[in-house]
Amino acid sequence: MATPHSGEAISRTWWQRGVIYEIYPRSFQDSDGDGVGDLAGMIRRLDYLRWLGVDAIWLTPFYPSPMADFGYDVADYTGVDPLFGSLADADQLIAEAHRRGLKVILDFVPNHSSDRHPWFQEARALRDNPRRDWYVWRDPGPDGGPPNNWRSVFGGSAWTLDEATGQYYYHAYLKEQPDLNWRNADVQTAMFDVMRFWLDRGVDGFRIDALRQLVEDDQLRDNPANPSYQPGDNPYHAVEPVHTTDQPETHALVRRMREVADTYADRVLIGELYLPIKRLVAYYGEHGNGLHLPFNFHLILTPWKADQIAELIRQYEAALPPDGWPNWVLSNHDQQRLASRIGDAQARVAALLLLTLRGTPTLYYGDELGMRDVAIPPEQLQDPVARRVPGHGRDPERTPMQWDAGPSAGFTAGTPWLPVGEHYQIINVAAEREDSHSMLTLYRRALVLRRAHTALAIGTYGAIESQDDVLAYVREGDGQRWLIALNLSASSQGYTPAEAFTGSMRLSTHADREGETVRDTLTLRGDEGVVIQLDTGTAPVKGRQDG
Ligand code: NOJ
Ligand code: MG
Repeated sequence: MATPHSGEAISRTWWQRGVIYEIYPRSFQDSDGDGVGDLAGMIRRLDYLRWLGVDAIWLTPFYPSPMADFGYDVADYTGVDPLFGSLADADQLIAEAHRRGLKVILDFVPNHSSDRHPWFQEARALRDNPRRDWYVWRDPGPDGGPPNNWRSVFGGSAWTLDEATGQYYYHAYLKEQPDLNWRNADVQTAMFDVMRFWLDRGVDGFRIDALRQLVEDDQLRDNPANPSYQPGDNPYHAVEPVHTTDQPETHALVRRMREVADTYADRVLIGELYLPIKRLVAYYGEHGNGLHLPFNFHLILTPWKADQIAELIRQYEAALPPDGWPNWVLSNHDQQRLASRIGDAQARVAALLLLTLRGTPTLYYGDELGMRDVAIPPEQLQDPVARRVPGHGRDPERTPMQWDAGPSAGFTAGTPWLPVGEHYQIINVAAEREDSHSMLTLYRRALVLRRAHTALAIGTYGAIESQDDVLAYVREGDGQRWLIALNLSASSQGYTPAEAFTGSMRLSTHADREGETVRDTLTLRGDEGVVIQLDTGTAPVKGRQDG
């Protein structure tokens, strides 16, 4: 029977209750000494993930690819690049993960293929090839140049001229990543078949790449100039992508993808969508016919200030549709490392935030160790974006996972494809496992606590508030109430909720207050975050109730 604060305990499924861990396959574990991670290496590390206490892994692409964008240029949607292994290895990974109770989420890259994909090879061969319309072709503009002003996210025009056939093709990203034409019904059918191919093999869902780019304006209207653009900003932002992103047609296509997923039991669809909250939540669809989890990147985009994050949480909760389940992301393979963005001490506070907010957390590999961005010498740069849009390369956050203090941090017996972080002899799994004050221990303890307590995993919110630099909220469920108080500054801060409380400290960033009894008011040291189990029977901590 549901009690007032039951937190909807019974009905939640794995992707609501669980924690997702993002793996960048090139950088997780190499097994054959070529310096690039692979599926066999990943299988060897599944026990670590189980020990850590995550519930699902999301793998960025491992499909056959010329690697112009490190796998996001797919030449065959239903295979495995030999660099990573074979289809048999993928099957084994799925089976071994499932054996350990871990779900497997793959990256689905529907917006574009590789220019080496047979579909594009056929499309570009002849104007009247039936595959021509699988991509987005247009005649040159009146001056012979590109058809309009659309820009590539990775710099330059989004149009490339195919000399042989005299037309331009559209690519939201690199010219090696031509956009598929989702207005073509055969493209839709082929891509839904790709989803079924992997779902039939047992994968538990997809993270859908570049979803906001899926459809473009069919009238090819120019994008308007961005009035707030400053010289020196990323040139992509010189125009506002109003005709190239988040087009209304995308929602109907998402519904079709959802129909495919719903013919299988308990699968999840997650969408990569850098969008303002209002437009983001539209991707839940109506009555749950859209995505399960439109990725919420707003913690990455919001200044690290208590009042702004409290406001973000309230706005996001208020915007969610009634059946929409929240989710939070702190970093990924396209963003600066968390510890580099907000500092090592705040990264610990952020760990408690991520794992105690209401909604599914996604954790980026290595963040649980406190891995930082690695400075890459110019001659070792790999990411094409580093050359095309200086300052925006993504190599620093994609360096090898740091397993131990041995050569190449235990990642490879060969030469790693990107250099290993300079502090790897301290920041690594083997060392941090033994250290009760390490980032890894903090993550693991937070994951254990979350798993053990329904209120933390899937409970509702009580108050959500900020006082000076302290962000605080209450989680309720299963007859329990928890207070999370996080000091987002380096100086000591007091925090006094509106109403009296008593409770017991269960977890803290500084790992030295567990068991402490607290009452009515808190003093937090600089960069300190605490998770408090409130005594039942204490009057509710009053605050705004949103959502
Ligand atoms: C988003 C992916 O996360 C990023 O790594 C990739 O370069 C682009 N989409 C293009 O696929
Ligand atoms: Mg597109």
